Amino acid sequence: MRNQLSRRTQSLAPSATLALDQKARALKAQGKDVINLTAGEPDFRTVPAGERAALQAIEEGFTHYTEGKGDEGLREAIADKLRRENGLSYSPADIVVSNGAKQSLAQVLFALLDPGDEVILLSPYWVSYQQQVLLAGGVPVEVPTLEGKGFHPDPERVAQAITEKTKILVLNSPNNPTGALYTREEIQALMDLARRHDLWVLSDEIYEHIAYDGRKALSPAGLNEDAFRRTVVINGVSKAYAMTGWRIGYAASPQKELIQGVAAWQSHLTSAPSSISQRAAEGALRGDLGPVEAMVAAFQKRRDFLYPVLSSIGVASPAAGRGLLLLHRLGSLPRGNHQLPAGRGASGGSGGGGSPRGSLRLPRLLAPQLCYLRRGAGKGGPAPQGMVCREGSSMRRAPLTMASRAMEGWQVK
Ligand SMILES: Cc1ncc(COP(=O)(O)O)c(C=O)c1O
Repeated sequence: MRNQLSRRTQSLAPSATLALDQKARALKAQGKDVINLTAGEPDFRTVPAGERAALQAIEEGFTHYTEGKGDEGLREAIADKLRRENGLSYSPADIVVSNGAKQSLAQVLFALLDPGDEVILLSPYWVSYQQQVLLAGGVPVEVPTLEGKGFHPDPERVAQAITEKTKILVLNSPNNPTGALYTREEIQALMDLARRHDLWVLSDEIYEHIAYDGRKALSPAGLNEDAFRRTVVINGVSKAYAMTGWRIGYAASPQKELIQGVAAWQSHLTSAPSSISQRAAEGALRGDLGPVEAMVAAFQKRRDFLYPVLSSIGVASPAAGRGLLLLHRLGSLPRGNHQLPAGRGASGGSGGGGSPRGSLRLPRLLAPQLCYLRRGAGKGGPAPQGMVCREGSSMRRAPLTMASRAMEGWQVK
């Protein structure tokens, strides 16, 4: 056959997070006792309103193609959510529903970028941004956020990175992987820059509900009329409603031409997302936020437990300690007694592209394996609400050894 893969495919780096997740699953399938700290997904069950709506969709025979941009009922539910929770006024026509926020992001980039257009990414950032920009022919331009500043954006640095070719600024708050939640002032300063240089702003709000200590995420689109026009809001049901497997995300923008462009891409790539998943997402969005709040409260408890444990062995980043994920410095791991016994391993995620060298984030939203730490710490008692503890000998392991093992495992694989 003539040639092999296209140059585009050859240059594509597969998602490191998914590759690690696959590896951990394969090891588990072989019966190995693996702690999977890869994909950033809630270990909670999908909210009941979502599950019920899906079952009803099947019973009613709602199992055929939907409108390409997504079923009207779901787009109405999304518009209502954006009005109710974010104070943003979109009509269902301003929204395209896709197979997860990941596809929404990719399609917006494909719809906007010409070869050579530059896209500013605040690093460390989620792995897929860079690869998606490259696939769309764009040029990713990294602007670091610094640990010393809590990984918050520095508008002056962003300003220095803007050139005549800059077309898009990507924002992600709460941030994966640093956990930083941007302040109103920071967002205001970035949006002022976007207005001055006439940039599009891609606001990835997939983690908006997962904010701790009573803090709230702010959508840049809500700042003023100009910000509303130049921001494309990306969100979905994956994280907030524990619906990662249903694959529903969306893009919202009042720019008709952009939305038509995104819909055109989708019409050739996937026609529309699964009808059943769309009904499930509609059910979740129309349901109450009680289960979401309970889940976030459980995550906060885990954060409150884990952070001091990791700090005590000197690997937690104080800057990232309050956020949705914990970022750690592998370089500062204590040396010595944390060998992996045969057949035992752990797999950690490097969900952030452009991560500080030698860092590791602990994803899965501080998942239940932390029970090991709690029980192992000799504190005993029932697991904190929202934690599902697996019975077994590993529970008796010492907490610091366990934390070290998780990271050591990640290093050696
Ligand atoms: C920052 C960020 N954006 C988007 C996504 C994709 O979300 P979805 O599952 O809706 O495609 C993820 C998933 O990990 C993420 O971390």
